[in-house]
Amino acid sequence: MSMSIESTLVETRVFPPPADFAKQANVSGAAGYQALLAEADRDPDAFWGRLARENLSWAKPFTQVLDESRAPFYRWFGDGELNISANCLDVNLTNGNADKVAIIFEADGGAVTRVTYRQLYERVCQFANGLKSLGYTTGERSIIYLPMSIEAVVAMQACARLGITHSVVFGGFSAKSLHERITDVGATLVITADEQMRGGKSIPLKPAVDEAFGMGGCEAVRHCVVYQRTGGKVVWDDKRDIWMHDLVKQQSTVCEPVAVNAEHPLFILYTSGSTGKPKGVQHSSAGYLLWAKLTMQWVFDAKASDVFWCTADVGWVTGHTYIAYGPLAAGMTQIVFEGVPTYPDAGRFWKMIQDHHVTIFYTAPTAIRSLIKASDANEAHHPKSYNLSSLRLLGSVGEPINPEAWMWYHNNVGGGRCPIVDTWWQTETGGHMITPLPGATPLKPGSCTTRLPGITAAIVDETGHDVEAGHGGFLVIKRPWPSMIRTIWGDPDRFEKSYFPSELKGYYLAGDGAQCDADGCFWIMGRIDDVLNVSGHRLGTMEVESALVSHEMVAEAAVVGRPDATTGEAVVAFVVLKRSRPEGDEAIAIGKQLRDWVAKEIGPIAKPKEIRFGDNLPKTRSGKIMRRLLRVVAKGEAVTQDVSTLENPAILDQLSKPV
Ligand code: WT7
Repeated sequence: MSMSIESTLVETRVFPPPADFAKQANVSGAAGYQALLAEADRDPDAFWGRLARENLSWAKPFTQVLDESRAPFYRWFGDGELNISANCLDVNLTNGNADKVAIIFEADGGAVTRVTYRQLYERVCQFANGLKSLGYTTGERSIIYLPMSIEAVVAMQACARLGITHSVVFGGFSAKSLHERITDVGATLVITADEQMRGGKSIPLKPAVDEAFGMGGCEAVRHCVVYQRTGGKVVWDDKRDIWMHDLVKQQSTVCEPVAVNAEHPLFILYTSGSTGKPKGVQHSSAGYLLWAKLTMQWVFDAKASDVFWCTADVGWVTGHTYIAYGPLAAGMTQIVFEGVPTYPDAGRFWKMIQDHHVTIFYTAPTAIRSLIKASDANEAHHPKSYNLSSLRLLGSVGEPINPEAWMWYHNNVGGGRCPIVDTWWQTETGGHMITPLPGATPLKPGSCTTRLPGITAAIVDETGHDVEAGHGGFLVIKRPWPSMIRTIWGDPDRFEKSYFPSELKGYYLAGDGAQCDADGCFWIMGRIDDVLNVSGHRLGTMEVESALVSHEMVAEAAVVGRPDATTGEAVVAFVVLKRSRPEGDEAIAIGKQLRDWVAKEIGPIAKPKEIRFGDNLPKTRSGKIMRRLLRVVAKGEAVTQDVSTLENPAILDQLSKPV
């Protein structure tokens, strides 16, 4: 671990919770927050036990809250049994929500479809019965490669209903990435669509699945269920492929939920780490859902009358916790959106908030920044050209939100009246960890503010000792929490080594550098490992490097992040070719070829923004690439650091010039 984190804080504005919001909030005022915090700190087992009994419906009650005997492989509510889908759907049939709209789906082209809780329940049951008819049972793994749709939620919930562990793969990932996940997770079932629609264009999905199957090693997959989204042409394998509409036809609308152990893996979601291979983050059933539901109530202040909209894709953890599970467990009406924020124009989000009377809106800083630009360019797409008076709460997730974007969001989208919850969390944490509570926490633009009750977040040095307020250090969580990662699928060693390094006293190491101010507010400074954050998505530099060197022309590659006004960070790649260093038009052409190659290998999100060619890379005499210097060079700054340990200092000049 190495780190150099300095404070760049100049932000001093503080926004106390509006009095009328605080008055009606689920957690109200500093006293409300302090009471929960104190209850959790006093007796964590009693706290979590109480919440799990009050908020989840159990098929078999648990008797033990936390089992630490095999730490860090913690078990929560480990002798209890429940079904996650029953906790999201069946509970809403008997509490008055049966005819309430669960999902308002808006397609890319604008068509709107609504399903009530009863209809969603019936569709999930039919799909689950269909899967049963194909012989699928508890304990198997499925890959879900679907566009944003009601069907995606149905597929996830149907798997949960049967105890099939799902692994959703974002539709923007390539056939190669898909193949890696199908084989790593040992999938026996793949659920996909013919195509997806984005910004008026159709993008094939089923062909990518076929391509992945063609790569070999997927023989365990018995069926590929295909949702017909566009009617686009697909190649069909009669033995393996089956249309979703054919599968559910004639199926009963009742399907008994399968009670599983609290620790049964609900899902595995792949995310980038500091090595080349993405890791399969394994989540539990009970602990995960408990936190999904609680954070809906505490952080999003969920009320029966709300219309909730999380703009994430179900391919990311945000779309799992705050689309597929949390809002349903909380009995809310939510929006599911297929399209992109800029189609048909950059007013799309604001128009949808207006049309559907959205009350809670949760999006990413990168989207906000790009919409600031677009609305500066054209007034018609500015939030002020829409009626956004239904909004009462805003949220941000994925990366630190810069104070300028925060202020714009607050003033122009929230009309100056809506609190903003800047929620810090990770794929591994399952749900929010450090975030304001909108009716309780004074907001500081750029800070994710304070830890949630039960979440023992702290800043420590490399020996695990607390650092003083105002100083940078490693962000850790000292005590386990119910929705935490359980293991890395198939690699428990990597789980222990990555998240519980021996120097840190058994604390969970988040991988972020941060500092805490005198008010207990956290300021996230960025990753401490070789992981980039591009548009709120995690990307391993090694992953991109491996993709580059797998191209026949490439001898060596080093990838670094560069601050970017819209995407937060941008990928810059330094490449040494096997042949001589290209220049001019040839360099541009080869650069394009390599960028497209990375998009094909991993997915468009990994595409380097810039590629520079060198005769070599800056290396120490022992052969280690000096990424620190490459980061400086990528920013276009002069190297002022000591370069005397470099084998080849002259190379920096060559790499300083963009193609
Ligand atoms: C990493 C986790 C959490 C769902 C989306 C991303 C960064 C996330 C914030 C925030 C500052 C943030 C961290 C974290 N991050 N939210 N509010 N403020 N940084 O999940 O892909 O697992 O990425 O995103 O660096 O470690 P993920």
